[in-house]
Amino acid sequence: MSSHSDSQNPGDAPGTSSDETSATPARPSRRRFLQSAAAAATVGTVPYAHAQTQPAAESTVPPVPPVTHPPVPARAVTLKINGRDYTLQLEPRVTLLDALREYAGLMGTKKGCDRGQCGACTVIADGRRINACLSLAVMHEGEAITTVEGLAQGDVLSPLQRAFIAHDAFQCGYCTPGQLCSATALLGEFAAGTASTVTVDVRQRPPQLTDDEIRERMSGNLCRCGAYPNIVAAVRAVHAGTTGDA
Ligand code: FES
Ligand code: FES
Repeated sequence: MSSHSDSQNPGDAPGTSSDETSATPARPSRRRFLQSAAAAATVGTVPYAHAQTQPAAESTVPPVPPVTHPPVPARAVTLKINGRDYTLQLEPRVTLLDALREYAGLMGTKKGCDRGQCGACTVIADGRRINACLSLAVMHEGEAITTVEGLAQGDVLSPLQRAFIAHDAFQCGYCTPGQLCSATALLGEFAAGTASTVTVDVRQRPPQLTDDEIRERMSGNLCRCGAYPNIVAAVRAVHAGTTGDA
């Protein structure tokens, strides 16, 4: 029979004894727990350290030489932009976005992501809205390209441009050229009877350009300023035959 002081482990909390611990095996002593944890950590590091000291297996596959392409010379490409012909010396790899901004000097079309995610570069090619950053300029010879600079008639803004102003549909304005081109094409697509993924009944006549339809059809154009409600209001107004201005 052991006394209370004989049976208490040094790691046990004051007031507990081995007898008490053995009566509740689910509660290991703190010292035993720390010993187990240290052992596990040591075991876990051994294979890693061992692996680091092993020499890398020699590859029998010969290295593949880098592929080099000879430069493709620039050639004359004629683009019809906003009703005017531009003959530009372009390499085939030049995107339509870079051709517009860097070669034709039309800086209204904006470069946001340059990878088809933001819609800032949206232009209209033969009535179809496209991301100019994802398309090569040489693919658009002979097409009628409309950029934001081509939406107004001289000094007269288009109905959508007036509605954007009236409805305060922008803040910084960086996305606005793409939004305007996209909305312009949207109204044309809707008038032509094109359905979207949220069109409930494609047979409904007349079709309804609801706010959901506008949001869905404008979903490729991001606005970091969050002007979405006002953009939808502007598009809705123009579709209804007004612009919202005086
Ligand atoms: S710049 Fe073309 S989609 Fe963003
Ligand atoms: S108005 Fe600033 S990103 Fe749209």
